[in-house]
Amino acid sequence: PGGVTLIQSGKVLTCTGLPYEPFQFEKDGKVVGFDVDLVDLVAKKLNATQEVIDTPFEGIQSGVDLNSGKCDLAAAGMTIDDTRKENFDFSDPYFDATQVLVGKKGAGLTGLDKLQGKKLGVQNGTTGAKYAKEKAPDVEQVVFEDLGLLLSGLETGAVDAAINDNGVVYDWVNKHADYEVGTEFATGEQYGIGVKKGNTALLKVINETIAETRASGQYDTIYEKWFGK
Ligand code: ARG
Repeated sequence: PGGVTLIQSGKVLTCTGLPYEPFQFEKDGKVVGFDVDLVDLVAKKLNATQEVIDTPFEGIQSGVDLNSGKCDLAAAGMTIDDTRKENFDFSDPYFDATQVLVGKKGAGLTGLDKLQGKKLGVQNGTTGAKYAKEKAPDVEQVVFEDLGLLLSGLETGAVDAAINDNGVVYDWVNKHADYEVGTEFATGEQYGIGVKKGNTALLKVINETIAETRASGQYDTIYEKWFGK
């Protein structure tokens, strides 16, 4: 009752920016990951299924995709931040994050000050790109559209280092033994799910899902599935 449009169709349309393993990535032709599992629980509460739409992160974080109705919500390992909050609404936090600097093993990337005369790869529209610009304005940035391109840029030597969120970078470093995290910056970030400004009905369902999932232990199960114990 009330006629509030929680979701636009029988499906929960989720905007995300692939690849962002282990939050969202393709495996055997399916999009899977921590965020996907969490939103599946939101969809379940709405008696709906989830459909994931892969779209550049820039359009997600600017609010364009949510406000144009391209999706009902955005789940993209996305940090809650004040500029974004002006353009769309965020759920309660569901995950903590920091920024890390990654490079070849032994490169001694102990801080942004080690990048003078070098190239730093960043992902377009991300908090990592913004952080590095603020803290080290003189360091040359090379902007990549997504995390996959950023990390291949690091592997081909197009950049000397890359900055991105701890969760995805540690996941990658664990599978790429020649690389290491040189520094971690305690940026105190928290991920939230985005909805179109004013969709408080959907936000309520998302927040209830996050709270219930934490209380029931289901959150830990999903966490361990994607991050290990
Ligand atoms: N947490 C960072 C931010 O919000 C990076 C998110 C990138 N997400 C993605 N799915 N590509 O800016």
